[in-house]
Amino acid sequence: MRKLFMAAAAVAALAIAAPAEAQSPIVIKFSHVVAPNTPKGKGAEKFKELAEKATNGKVKVEVYPNSTLYKDKEELEALQLGAVQMLAPSNSKFGPMGIKDFEVFDLPFLLPDLASLRKVTEGPIGKRMLKLMEPKGMIGLAYWDNGFKQMSANKPLRVPADYKGLKFRIQSSKVLEAQFRALGAIPQVMAFSEVYQALQTGVVDGQENTPSNMYTQKMHEVQKYTTLSNHGYIGYVVVVNKKFWDGLPADIRGQLEKAMKEATDYTNHISAQENADALAEMKKSGKTEFITLKKEEVAEMKKALNPLYDDMAKRVGKKLIDEVVATVGGATH
Ligand code: LMR
Repeated sequence: MRKLFMAAAAVAALAIAAPAEAQSPIVIKFSHVVAPNTPKGKGAEKFKELAEKATNGKVKVEVYPNSTLYKDKEELEALQLGAVQMLAPSNSKFGPMGIKDFEVFDLPFLLPDLASLRKVTEGPIGKRMLKLMEPKGMIGLAYWDNGFKQMSANKPLRVPADYKGLKFRIQSSKVLEAQFRALGAIPQVMAFSEVYQALQTGVVDGQENTPSNMYTQKMHEVQKYTTLSNHGYIGYVVVVNKKFWDGLPADIRGQLEKAMKEATDYTNHISAQENADALAEMKKSGKTEFITLKKEEVAEMKKALNPLYDDMAKRVGKKLIDEVVATVGGATH
């Protein structure tokens, strides 16, 4: 009798708890490593706004910027484990987990402009590459821009000889490693959140990043010179945990896909201006001196870095490199 009573009480308790549970929203934790006022930071906030509106509050997006939850490498592991549901790591970050194709975007002087990049990401190559995420337990939803990288150090960097013997922070990419080795420099892999301090304390001498990342991390305050090299590109793939995404009710998933498409259009629309504004702010601060390269200096840089296209073919894939080069219509060689 007592047992029966307890069972009945448990059923009653469940009945009370059930409606509240049914109302609790689906939570998407969106973790990233950059500041909120960057293209990715703003894109994540835009997705939150659009997703919560489209699902009428059935989905709650929690955005964690500035490596609050995880640093570079850890965030991909957390996504695979399901500790977070959504990320937008840079292309370079997929190489160490075995998706080396994305390192193609690290090739120096590959993309003359954002329009050429779009031909790759929005065309058959980009679609095919997103599929590579699935065997790793992720779904690639979209490509988000940041922009073109600039070099910085405490000495002026114009030609390869200027790089000799200097230590540069890199993202964990074999192509970026080869890039700095080709310049006679010493590459050092380091998480994004640690770069400012490493520059400040002299653990590394220089770095490469986009103006929006440099400005929001205050890197320009601890680097005497910034070279407007535009030698490479940083962009992102928005990825979600596959099990989580596949398990969503179809109508909600559809609403989220639409929100992601709109957030992508927004991010890729503001990215160039965000970087231009960050560059202008750094110039205004007077804390770093900007160097514009002469034509001959650019030619020297390209000549030193050109061998990477062959040297990296084994890792990234010759067919892919050739295909991307043909699609963007140029590159260094
Ligand atoms: C970096 O590590 O330098 C960048 O990829 C950070 C980012 O997410 O833009």
